[in-house]
This record gives sequence, C-alpha cells and structure tokens, in this order.
Amino acid sequence: MTSTDSSAILPAELEDLVALFDVEQSDAPTPDAEREAALAEPRFGTVFTDHMARITWRRDTGWLDRRIEKYGPLQLDPATAVLHYAQEIFEGMKAYKHADGSVWTFRPDANAARFARSAHRLALPALSVDDFIGSIAALVRTDRAWVPSGEDSSLYLRPFMFASEAFLGVRPAAEVEYLCIASPVGPYFAGGVRPVSIWVAEDYHRSGPGGTGDAKCGGNYAASLLPQTQAQENGCDQVCFLDATTNSYLEELGGMNVFVVMADGSVHTPELTGSILEGVTRSSILQLASDRGRDVVERRIPLAELVAGLADGSVREVFACGTAAVITPVGRLAGGTFDHTVGDGEPGDLTMQIRTELTDIQYGRAADRHGWMRRLA
Ligand code: COI
Repeated sequence: MTSTDSSAILPAELEDLVALFDVEQSDAPTPDAEREAALAEPRFGTVFTDHMARITWRRDTGWLDRRIEKYGPLQLDPATAVLHYAQEIFEGMKAYKHADGSVWTFRPDANAARFARSAHRLALPALSVDDFIGSIAALVRTDRAWVPSGEDSSLYLRPFMFASEAFLGVRPAAEVEYLCIASPVGPYFAGGVRPVSIWVAEDYHRSGPGGTGDAKCGGNYAASLLPQTQAQENGCDQVCFLDATTNSYLEELGGMNVFVVMADGSVHTPELTGSILEGVTRSSILQLASDRGRDVVERRIPLAELVAGLADGSVREVFACGTAAVITPVGRLAGGTFDHTVGDGEPGDLTMQIRTELTDIQYGRAADRHGWMRRLA
C-alpha cells in the first residue's frame, strides 16, 4: 500500500560508509554554554551545528572528496548555474535522541530514494544511498553534542545538492556539490501543536502535469511563496494548492501533504498524480492508519466535496504532515467563497493519536514494528 518501498536499498554496514568521510574538526567550535543555550529552546532552522558534510561531483570524475568540514559560507562565482536556473534539490530529515542517549533517524532509505528521484528529474547526478546515509551518519557523529533532548526537539538534517558550475548556458551542470547541514529544532510552528488555518489558492498552482511537483526541489517552494503570502493576507497560516488541470482537486500545502478523516473513520489523502510530493511522513501515516484497521484511501479529493463535508459534518478532521511539521491539525479551511471550521476547531482525536504513535516510534518510546528507525550514533 505504501509506495515508498525501502527494503531493496538498505545500505551496507554504516561503519564502512562513515569511514569514507575525512573529518576536519572546526577550529572555532561553538562554546559549550552557547550551544547549550541554543539547545534549550531550539527554534526551527535558525541555528546550525559546527560542521557540514560535503561531497563534490565532476562530470569526468564522478563523486569524490567525501568530507566533514567546518560549517560556514560557501564561496560562489556569480555565474554559478544554480543561481540562474535553480538546478537544486533537497531533503528534510531528523535525528532523534532516545532515552539511553543513542541517536536515531527515521526511514533514511526512503529519503535517499526520493533524493535520487529528485536528482533524476532535475538532471543532477545520482548520489548513492550509501553516500547519502553515510554523510548523515558522519555529520551526526561529529556534531552529536548538538542533538537536543527536549520533548518534540530533534536535530533537523538538510541534505541538498546544487549545480555549482560557473556557466550561463542552459544545460545540466558539469560540476555539482552535495552538502548536508544540521540544525537543532523544536516545533515547526511557533506555539507547538495547535490547529493551523488553511487558505485554498485558486489562482496559483505549485506544479502541473509533467512538472517538478513530485521532486523535492527549491523551485516548488519558491512557487509557493506568493500564494503563501496571500494566505496570510487572508488571515490564514498556510496555503493549499489545487491541481493545475482542473483547479478542483486538493494537492498539497506549501511544504506538507494533507489528510482528511471522514465521519465513517476512513482516512483519505490526495493520490500521487506526479505533481504531489511523495512524503515519507505521508506514507508512514497511511501505514499507521491502516494498522489501526482504518480504511485508507488515496484518491483525487474534490475541493467541493471537502467544503460540503465540512458543512454537513461528514468530514471530521483535516491534518497536514511532513518531516518538519510532523502531524499538524487543521482547524479552519477558507477560500474565496467559503470559510469553515474543521470539527470544533480543536485537534482531532485520530490526528493526535497517530501523531503520538508516530513520535513515540521516532523517539524510541514505542516498538519500531515496521523497522523504520536506523541508529546513527
Ligand atoms: C520538511 O518537512 O522537512 C520539509 O522539507 C518541508 C519544509 C517546508 C520545511
């Protein structure tokens, strides 16, 4: 049922993969007191650890120079291809500290597989699953002291790859950099888990048929920023996009997939049509809901049906999900011609049950019955 099948691409021994990375320790690490202060109240994506992982690709040599180096600015020629044509992809992952101090990540093989699919779509070179997971483990081991232990806190990992060749011709770059940076984070939304409001954009789309909607590339997120601003101008927290062909079916939010829970208990999410990101959290929720005996349905969901269902009570809960936001209840859905509270506006029961179940697995408080967790350090 879940379409992210990871079993076939598990990498070789992690120790061997980590050993491929040369570690050059920072000559100016963050003082302990400063780091502890940052870890005490981490906000999303504002503070970064002392190191970053890096691998360089040249068309004539392939991937080389695997290293962990001091975190710092990149020096780029103004003609660097990514600055002009946005040949770039990224991933979002987290490292979680368990009660015994060990550090784990969640389904890294699924992120590695999606990174490879995104690379293919953006005409970037494939990075092997081994290098992807090895880079993350090497970075987390080097910056282990940066993994926070507070509730709902984690070390957010941001692997990314971009065209680094200085060249203004429009063709796939012959030089590419892969990096992974890390940032201690708390909840994605300030104020923790609270229902967010959603504005449905009817004038803009984030992607269309044959576009890059199912690739995790910066351009998709750039396309979401103006509609996201309009959502805020209309008093909402987040934007939700419709399909570009008919402007009538739900797709996804600016950076999250969306789910609908019906009064009959079934759990629905937009099917993967090629213009929706195949979220790792999305596929995990489908599994957990199915484990609970719920009917899970991946289908095209008409906006009109959702709006009518909110009005007549046949839609009980709506929630959004992603690595950064985990599972976020939706309390209100609005657009040009409608404005509805979801249920009583409070987080839905199933939303919160699945959120707890998922985070209990991630933080090692519940059995990992699907073999999703992988120890990094
Ligand atoms: C994530 O959920 O990790 C993402 O990459 C989405 C982004 C909006 C933070």
